[in-house]
Amino acid sequence: MEVVIRPDAEDAGRTVAGIIHRAIFEGAKTLGLATGSSPLGVYADLVRRHRQEGLSFAGVDAFLLDEYVGLPPSHPQSYAQVIRRELVDHVDLDPARVHAPDGTASDPQQEARRFDRTLTAAGPVGLQILGIGVNGHIGFNEPGSSLASRTRLKTLTDDTRRDNARFFGGIEGVPRHVITQGLATIGAASHLVLIATGPHKAHAVAAAVEGPVSAQCPAAILQLHPHATVVVDELAAARLEQKPYYHDIARHKPAAQGY
Ligand code: F6R
Repeated sequence: MEVVIRPDAEDAGRTVAGIIHRAIFEGAKTLGLATGSSPLGVYADLVRRHRQEGLSFAGVDAFLLDEYVGLPPSHPQSYAQVIRRELVDHVDLDPARVHAPDGTASDPQQEARRFDRTLTAAGPVGLQILGIGVNGHIGFNEPGSSLASRTRLKTLTDDTRRDNARFFGGIEGVPRHVITQGLATIGAASHLVLIATGPHKAHAVAAAVEGPVSAQCPAAILQLHPHATVVVDELAAARLEQKPYYHDIARHKPAAQGY
């Protein structure tokens, strides 16, 4: 695993956008997209790169990590709508190639299996963007999720619903259930890139990067992955014990591998 520490959130977002730009340039045809606030700077910089540097998403398929059960794709907080608003509407990514679980499906379990099959058939995902919850979740794999899980119906913890209340004007509006890619589904991507910024993420980042691999911190599965990159700002890196070493690696990185 590589840990890249940037001075601030904006710089971290630009760094992840640069990694994605390079992956597409080198032929990645399938992207895994996260929502929430962590990747917003990434998407803003991808839009800038599309407009100013010729980055093209033509021919790329995108798969969302998760979706709220009960929200139609037209709902402003459905993840299908968020990704459309933040990215798809501003670049040449074909909306028909953006795949999300259908949160209104009458049988969410069956919809989760359908989504997993579609993803597996199109995969492997070349690059998967991830955020991390303050409790260590990735996608909506809350602590206790099976490390071997596939896309399925999950119940959100009250902590996660409280965190996301800011998007819904209060916790009452936050759905209780989601369809989320499982940890094994996520782990099948060729490259996992996690972005975390701000002091509230410092504990989860330290547990994911330097803690034991355990279902209690689902993001720790990155330690088992052959190609995982964690991009954090200084605030989110605050509790990393090996921080000086990560800085050292960046200082002495061969130019060809730089960001
Ligand atoms: C969103 C997702 C979640 C978020 C996580 C962090 O698609 O899968 O795991 O990445 O809850 O959310 P933010 O970035 O809003 O702090």
